[in-house]
Amino acid sequence: TGLVTLDPGFVNTAACTSDITYIDGDAGILRYRGYPIEELAAKSNFIEVSYLLIYGELPTQQQYEDFAERIRRHTLLHEDLKQFFDGFPRDAHPMPVLSSAVSALSTFYQDSLNPFDANQVELSTVRLLAKLPTIAAYAYKKSVGQPFLYPDNSLGLVENFLRMTFGFPAEPYEVDPTLTRALDLLFILHADHEQNCSTSTVRMVGSSEANLFASISAGINALFGPLHGGANSAVLEMLEGINRNGGDVDSFVNRVKNKEPGVKLMGFGHRVYKNYDPRAAIIKKTADEVLGKLSANDPLLDIALKLEEKALADDYFVERKLYPNVDFYTGLIYKAMGFPTKFFTVLFALGRLPGWIAHWREMLEDPARKISRPRQVYTGQAERSYTPIAQR
Ligand code: CMC
Repeated sequence: TGLVTLDPGFVNTAACTSDITYIDGDAGILRYRGYPIEELAAKSNFIEVSYLLIYGELPTQQQYEDFAERIRRHTLLHEDLKQFFDGFPRDAHPMPVLSSAVSALSTFYQDSLNPFDANQVELSTVRLLAKLPTIAAYAYKKSVGQPFLYPDNSLGLVENFLRMTFGFPAEPYEVDPTLTRALDLLFILHADHEQNCSTSTVRMVGSSEANLFASISAGINALFGPLHGGANSAVLEMLEGINRNGGDVDSFVNRVKNKEPGVKLMGFGHRVYKNYDPRAAIIKKTADEVLGKLSANDPLLDIALKLEEKALADDYFVERKLYPNVDFYTGLIYKAMGFPTKFFTVLFALGRLPGWIAHWREMLEDPARKISRPRQVYTGQAERSYTPIAQR
């Protein structure tokens, strides 16, 4: 005892055991509960993947329908919760709006405070999955000064979200199956990624036995940062910057290689993947399809493709094993769908939600669970005596 290991950023330290997600970063493998991400992306849907992550097995038809129905029944927000959106500046970033509204769920559902009450944990799980899309859509509506739409529970989760975001009360909303399927697929690809920064945050907050809403709200705030979920917005800003500069990919790559302060190739690199991120490979194909179908001939896609080609052939990136990650192409798809840049990270949060919930539940059910409390290596002053202020 008394001996601690210093590991900034937890590069080599496992904080828990987990049965949820397997990553082999060298081989570029990602599996949820044993199922390869490629297979889930091709054959499953987001509700089913959420069930799989949270309960450990793919649902039977009956289990699937019950789960989807329970979620459908909780999509409404408490009328008083809608007041919250008026309290924020209209141009507020939607991520803190999202985390604040999720934090506020603890005040509306006060029975949720005991994390060991299994019925309440079930209810909080379903409430979060159902209400986060509504909260996200209202954050958007508020930002553009349009009226909120009540959920239409004849629609599926993703369609409902798209309608509440882009629809108008007086007009029927035409569901675009390409858009719905693409967004559902992106949610699947984001649904879990083991002990990333936000998931570790959810676990850490939950380890103090804080309830699910408080823990997820903390996770949303961790996701906000540009090195994590904020990267999808940052990629688009980077591509726009290059475009304004006449599409000069070479000079941008040189600035990255010269390590100009604040200049990184956003959407590249990963703590665990030292190979092509398997999610990025699927997304790249989707970007082509969606942009083609939405006939969005975006010059930024060409810049992204050129950037990737250039980086993958450059020693700087090769030596450091830097490959495109999940965030490299998503922004282009979200943009083509009509989402504003600062909303992209909200979409990441909607996708990551079932993963966060699954980890919080796994952690609380773990008999080896302990409150998260890292140690430190103290590097400050040795003991010294207090000097009165007049003598300093
Ligand atoms: N552009 C240029 N250089 C990079 C990049 C990049 N995107 N990523 C890493 N490097 C360099 C880094 O400067 C370092 O070089 P050196 O050895 O000369 O000092 C080397 O590669 C190792 O990088 P690191 O920062 O020690 O790696 P890390 O595991 O601590 O960081 C990361 C991982 C994802 C934070 C980092 O790669 C990064 O900042 N990428 C850009 C932001 C991004 O795309 N984030 C999304 C991550 S995936 C999904 C998610 O979590 O949201």
